[in-house]
Amino acid sequence: MRNPFAVLRYLRDLANGRDKRHLGHNPAGGAMIVALLVVLAVISVTGVMQLTNRFFGVVWVEDLHHYAANVLLVMIPLHVLGVVISSALHRENLLGSMITGRKALDAPETVTSELREARIFDRIRTSEGVLVLLVAMGVAGAWGVLETGRREVHVVVDEKQPIVESGPSPEATEMSRTAQERAPQKDRLDYVASAPLNASRAWLISSGGRLYDNWFVALGVKGPVTTHVSWPRDNTIISGDQTWCCKSCHGWDYLGREGQYRTGPSATGINGVQRAKGRTPEMLMGILGNSKHGFTDEIMPVDVKYRLALFLSQGQHTARSYIQPDNTVKGNAVQGQAIYENVCAACHGFDGKALKLGVSSDPLYNGVPQFVGSKAAANPTDGLHKIRNGHPGAIMVSLRAFPMEHAANVLAYVQTLPQQ
Ligand code: HEC
Ligand code: HEC
Repeated sequence: MRNPFAVLRYLRDLANGRDKRHLGHNPAGGAMIVALLVVLAVISVTGVMQLTNRFFGVVWVEDLHHYAANVLLVMIPLHVLGVVISSALHRENLLGSMITGRKALDAPETVTSELREARIFDRIRTSEGVLVLLVAMGVAGAWGVLETGRREVHVVVDEKQPIVESGPSPEATEMSRTAQERAPQKDRLDYVASAPLNASRAWLISSGGRLYDNWFVALGVKGPVTTHVSWPRDNTIISGDQTWCCKSCHGWDYLGREGQYRTGPSATGINGVQRAKGRTPEMLMGILGNSKHGFTDEIMPVDVKYRLALFLSQGQHTARSYIQPDNTVKGNAVQGQAIYENVCAACHGFDGKALKLGVSSDPLYNGVPQFVGSKAAANPTDGLHKIRNGHPGAIMVSLRAFPMEHAANVLAYVQTLPQQ
């Protein structure tokens, strides 16, 4: 390592074609190594930080991680270019030296003159540097493990089991009272946007699932007219209020860009929300108000955020465990038929054609009328979410209170219903 002035001098000499050959790294190369290590450390530390409870979903950490990764992508080719130029100018095999650690001496005095130049930084020996780095990484790692494992910020969720009611917690009671005050049920149709007083946990979670799907339809209010700030500008197929739905950015399978929305008109490159599983609502409610989301308490009341958070924490299922890449469902259609005929057929009809489903703006359907059978076949991930949580803005049941496999079984049967 050389001091910064030596690096600048070297770069000037290089530009003039007067650069000297060096036995270790040349000054620019040494600076590049330090810069690479610093950027890598920033990426690693901010990466671990995002796994911890304290920094989960914190915007500056996410952004720093993101930009540092991009800076690294610029530095890598510069570094390779430097190696190529240096090798060509001095007609030597730098790549070989990197592997063997050897370079040919021009003359014995080069060693002493290089050491004289390297006064400031040459005291730090590699072994000491590595030791400091290892200790720092150990401390950061131990801290990360402790933070990630903090009990009070996690609940254990077994998604296969029905929700075990634990009786109303003071928090849940307060939240459902607020919801009920805002939207009391006066007649049957109010079921859509209304809330029970002292709601069961299963209801709070399924309601959160409908809000995840489309919160403004679920609440019976008008959605924002502008396009959401985090919506990627190059995706113009979807715009306006639809870009404010959690599912539009994070996906029906909760996996974002790593799941169903990897490609296609809904691809946004945004992460999923699976890491929210098991975290306490307070942590998750904060994320909704951050600058990436902009769900202020005016746009989205606190009790609504609470239900969403509860859904993210305790209501997400692993879609891939039930739906195969070719859209077939791992479920028992014979069992599913029994549920369908006794529950779903009351509204959808025995053949699934009693309700013509609104042709959504979803380009998947090309304006063709849809029935429950065709929707479940074309987009089973969406279907599974709706069967588990209900359909926002509609009088439709939710199977949230029953074991997960019931939902998968009924979905498998619904796929066999007439498509047209
Ligand atoms: C316009 C797109 C958009 C919408 C709509 C949106 N989000 Fe996000 N969300 C993001 C972005 C961007 C991030 C930051 C992670 C990333 O860069 O991928 C994020 C992160 C999150 C995280 C943290 C995930 C993690 O692992 O760090 C949670 C939880 C979350 N969102 C929940 C929600 C919920 C609930 C809603 C609906 C009320 C919602 N989001 C709506 C874009 C969106
Ligand atoms: C009380 C009546 C009712 C019952 C019972 C009912 N549904 Fe629905 N369902 C609806 C309504 C209303 C809609 C929304 C239709 C619309 O406007 O798109 C809907 C929508 C759906 C959708 C979403 C379609 C879409 O547009 O994406 C699926 C899937 C579905 N129902 C499956 C089922 C299954 C499976 C059952 C049985 C477990 C069931 N439904 C029970 C009334 C009902």
